[in-house]
Amino acid sequence: MRDFATAPPLFDAAFLNDPYPVYRELRAAGAVLWRDDVFQGAWVLTRHADVELALRDPRLSSARTGGWVKRIPGVDASLQGRRAQAGLDAFQRLFGSAMVFLDGDDHQRVRKAMAAGFHPTLVRTMRADVERLTDELLDGLDAHAGFDFIAQVARPLPSRVIGLMLGIDRKDEAQFMAWSDDLAAFIGALQPTADQLRAAQRSLLQMVRYFDALLPVRRREPGADLVSRLAQAEAAGELRADGELLAQCAMLLFAGHETTRNLLGNGLYTLLAHPHAWARLCADADGVPLAVRELLRYDSPVQYTGRRVAAEFTLHGTRLRRGDLVVAMIGAANRDPDRFDDPDTFDITRRAGSHLSFGSGPHVCIGAGLALLEADVVLRAVLRRWPGLRLATASLRWNGIAGLRGLAALPVTAS
Ligand code: HEM
Repeated sequence: MRDFATAPPLFDAAFLNDPYPVYRELRAAGAVLWRDDVFQGAWVLTRHADVELALRDPRLSSARTGGWVKRIPGVDASLQGRRAQAGLDAFQRLFGSAMVFLDGDDHQRVRKAMAAGFHPTLVRTMRADVERLTDELLDGLDAHAGFDFIAQVARPLPSRVIGLMLGIDRKDEAQFMAWSDDLAAFIGALQPTADQLRAAQRSLLQMVRYFDALLPVRRREPGADLVSRLAQAEAAGELRADGELLAQCAMLLFAGHETTRNLLGNGLYTLLAHPHAWARLCADADGVPLAVRELLRYDSPVQYTGRRVAAEFTLHGTRLRRGDLVVAMIGAANRDPDRFDDPDTFDITRRAGSHLSFGSGPHVCIGAGLALLEADVVLRAVLRRWPGLRLATASLRWNGIAGLRGLAALPVTAS
């Protein structure tokens, strides 16, 4: 019999390249599986109904950042001295203040302060900007010579869009992407290392310092950007003045582009790997919104999220104790045959069943409308310009980040 505390492996190259066979095995093995090798021990859920329950059930808390970080192997050695300890404490405090890690009233308060910035009407008005930014990037490309879609489009575009939303200077873009990549490598690791923690800590603190310097300017001369809105919310007492605002800015910057990059990259790759679907969309671009929904289901940019048990309960006969960590495998839930017919088939006309790629319940992605807009604009533009686009490599390189699944590069060419 297989020992599901450690097998099948969740960190090897095969899993990182293609996690879906492993998810199938986990789903079949049991609904609630203990894994020693996930965050120093966690319950792993892979079935759609259970993942959805975990995302919605108030017995499971989103405040899951505390404690385990200090137990990452090798972290002790770097915590000699008061400064190192204070740095880690500041990181944990900021990290834990981001909306996605808050519960109950605090979460509702912060979400309300942010909501106006993501209102569907406002997002719709951003279409022209997203089209302009997309055209700017695509105009500079020679598809016949070939280009890397990740480096040239999927990476910079979401970063420019979120930069525009936050009112950040384009000259700071490369710096932000680098900081954000450090956070992604840490947040997206099922078993983060001390080096990943240190890099994420350094980058988050630098991001926060950047926004700390920007805030007085926005307070003095408010604009229509989200940072100005949040500064006003802080002045009105809706956000706490103890770094809560800074934590939201830094996390938004990260959440706004690491995920969308992978929707664009995984999405274009999947379409090019399914020529019938590609041809169908070239003939009728109105199929793009439904296709994007299927792309999100088929290869989710966010593969899992976590919760901590706040009140003990029993799930399928397994007792989950207060403090236990629960990992809800979104990528596995999206391929659950109990929810989706023929789940491993990519079908751009699929309507039945709802994917969990944007989460569910109180923390459902606040930026979903923006991500869908970006995917819609980019795919329509690429289909229109280069119907003959194809993959220019037989061997793909994935980013090696379990939780934020995406390609490191996507070489394409058009004949
Ligand atoms: C929350 C996925 C794009 C900002 C979430 C959650 C998921 C998710 C799964 C829920 C996490 C949980 O419950 O633990 C995605 C995907 C995206 C995307 C797949 C792109 C394809 C964006 C964008 C933004 C954004 C563009 C901002 C500009 C956020 C924020 C939260 C969140 C702030 C926390 C919401 C809360 O806690 O109430 N996202 N996201 N996301 N997302 Fe996204």
